[in-house]
Amino acid sequence: MANVKDKYPEFYTVDDAINFDEATCKMIQEKYSNTLKVQLSGAHYFVKAENAHLTEANGKQWIDMLGAVGVMSVGNNNEFVWKQIEKVFNARCYNMGAVSYHNIAAAFYSNIARTTPGGALTKVQMATGGAEALEGCIKLVKIAHRNNKNKTKILSTINAFHGKTAGAVSVGGKDTWQAYQGGLILDQVTHIPYNDVAALKKELETGQYQAFFMEPVQGEGGVNVASEEFFKTARDLCTKTNTYLVADEVQTGCGRTGKMWACQWFDIIPDVMSFAKGISGGFIPLAGYCAKPEVHDAAYGTPETAFHHTATYQGCAYAAASGIAALQFIIENDLPGMANEKGKVIFDAMKATKEKYPGIIKDVRGKGMIIGVEFEPTKPGLEDKYGANWATECERFFSEEFRIQVMHSFNNQKVFRWLPPLTAPMEDIEYAIKSFDAAVKHVYDLAK
Ligand SMILES: Cc1ncc(COP(=O)(O)O)c(C=O)c1O
Repeated sequence: MANVKDKYPEFYTVDDAINFDEATCKMIQEKYSNTLKVQLSGAHYFVKAENAHLTEANGKQWIDMLGAVGVMSVGNNNEFVWKQIEKVFNARCYNMGAVSYHNIAAAFYSNIARTTPGGALTKVQMATGGAEALEGCIKLVKIAHRNNKNKTKILSTINAFHGKTAGAVSVGGKDTWQAYQGGLILDQVTHIPYNDVAALKKELETGQYQAFFMEPVQGEGGVNVASEEFFKTARDLCTKTNTYLVADEVQTGCGRTGKMWACQWFDIIPDVMSFAKGISGGFIPLAGYCAKPEVHDAAYGTPETAFHHTATYQGCAYAAASGIAALQFIIENDLPGMANEKGKVIFDAMKATKEKYPGIIKDVRGKGMIIGVEFEPTKPGLEDKYGANWATECERFFSEEFRIQVMHSFNNQKVFRWLPPLTAPMEDIEYAIKSFDAAVKHVYDLAK
């Protein structure tokens, strides 16, 4: 057998990679990848992760209050989930279930269908990430309405985030991510302000929309929670105007808001629902969408259209196993209940900090364990040093001084966001709350 290093002396095997020291890793990654985004994100190099604890290569310990932007519902390297995936690895099964029958994929489809609002979204397709799942939803509503010539458009909300593929970024409501990509489907999308019931009625009553896409809580948009009136009006009018209601639960699903799916807070059954992030347990890329069978079949239920949204890794057994195991862990350990309890502690603490340091925090909002803290603009004269609002300096201080992994909302940078693993121990949460209070005091003193 040839040795790969005879042909490529600098080929790194898995054993080589596991044994890289910090400097080697950084040198190689900087040369061969887009490391600017890493550097702009704090340039961390974590080598170990366990529940809400991260360890850097230099041995420094961090507390994880971001959970890889909401992925780690079950905590980093959840032992139970890992063991279930291992069983499938050990079975040496045929891994590719995209266009064949597959026992592990079948179990995943059935399990997730049962958890959906009203148990009604029973046709499931797998994807490898949130944006790909949203592409599937966009194509689903277009193909399902293909013979309805009056319906040509999609309705969405300003500041929505649905991912960064060409279609998903068009349905999303942030022009930053649409820039430099002429030829997107933007001319087919209308964006209305989130929670604006009058705008919603005005648009949906035209009857021209194939679907209304909305997040029950806008995550990247700044943790904006849907009002009952907005979501319920959307459901009613979508039904009346034959418009599909697509709930994007990529960030809000899997127990994050205190219910398995955030739609369940509103007793809303959408026609289509996307999922990602928490469903994989953070192990193997997994996402997808569920639809009511009649909606799914109207789109993908003919020989002509059955192949209109396929991907090589749909039905991947290891990914499906991670989904089965994460769902089982979420249900058996009542993670939605934990999200409610721990989320209330964080929420109340944020409110108390707001009152304690007047003029720094404008608003605190959220549901379960997705909580946003909106900051006031920086004191005039200090913008050059600290940025347009106090979120930037507060986040820097909070993160660097106390080694807590966090991130603001991407589409609304004045909003600092809590997205801890739902399994995070109370002592870590309490440490983070105390540290956050100190960070707000720090900017309060600067603002004096
Ligand atoms: C609501 C929502 N939809 C879609 C996406 C895109 O998911 P991904 O980053 O896996 O493509 C995200 C990612 O943050 C999201 O929050």
